[in-house]
Amino acid sequence: MTAMLECRSLVGGYGKIVGFRELDFALEPKQVLAILGPNGAGKTTLMMTIAGLLPRISGDVLLNGKSIPSGKPSVANLSGVVLVPDNRALFTTLTVRENIEIAGLPGQKSIDDVLDLFPALHSRLTLKAAALSGGEQQMLAMARGLIQRPKVFLIDEMSMGLAPIIVESLLPVVRHIADETGAAVVLVEQHVGLALEVADQAMVLVHGTVSLRGTSADLRRDPAILEAAYLGSNVD
Ligand SMILES: Nc1ncnc2c1ncn2[C@@H]1O[C@H](COP(=O)(O)OP(=O)(O)OP(=O)(O)O)[C@@H](O)[C@H]1O
Ligand SMILES: [Mg+2]
Repeated sequence: MTAMLECRSLVGGYGKIVGFRELDFALEPKQVLAILGPNGAGKTTLMMTIAGLLPRISGDVLLNGKSIPSGKPSVANLSGVVLVPDNRALFTTLTVRENIEIAGLPGQKSIDDVLDLFPALHSRLTLKAAALSGGEQQMLAMARGLIQRPKVFLIDEMSMGLAPIIVESLLPVVRHIADETGAAVVLVEQHVGLALEVADQAMVLVHGTVSLRGTSADLRRDPAILEAAYLGSNVD
């Protein structure tokens, strides 16, 4: 099967400053890849590079086997690459409904389809986005992404600022999204244990390089190695 998303020898960063180097991975439809790693590891840089918000330094990003142009976010988006950014980037003065509808294109999913995944938003549709709780804002950011029918759904730090109990309820929704929509999902996540429960594969980035990777099942069975790689970089 052709991979839904493939990164080949991908190097990204800011001009000459390398954020991550030589990344290779491929995701089939419905597969979830968790990207783990400490602050400054290059996780957001990777997401922005796949989304076309940053031009690639070298390497390739392929969607369904076809290379997508470097540094062209609108082309990547119209091809099916959708990013939920770490700052959520909501239109805070628009209502919940407007935030979702503004992202939809004619013929794409209806707002009801995406709200089925986030029933808590139903009673909030006429509220301004600014009036939502942090968890509700994250649901809204994901609903706004989903209405674009992503083939590749990139979720950066979904859990940022959220109480652990909210994270525990939201992460399984990510699994559900992959299973139901067939999208390949890349999830940047700080909650290592929870991320490994919903992801198929995981990769630990440290200083822009992969320090550990494998199936979630294998990494779950090997918590000492994961912890060492994950925390080790914080204490150097
Ligand atoms: N606009 C920029 N110009 C130059 N360097 C940048 C820029 N944005 C980020 N960087 C650098 O790129 C490196 C990777 O940053 P990135 O934001 O990808 O890390 P991250 O893994 O997402 O971290 P966090 O967990 O804190 O979100 C860092 O050293 C950072 O300082
Ligand atoms: Mg980041």
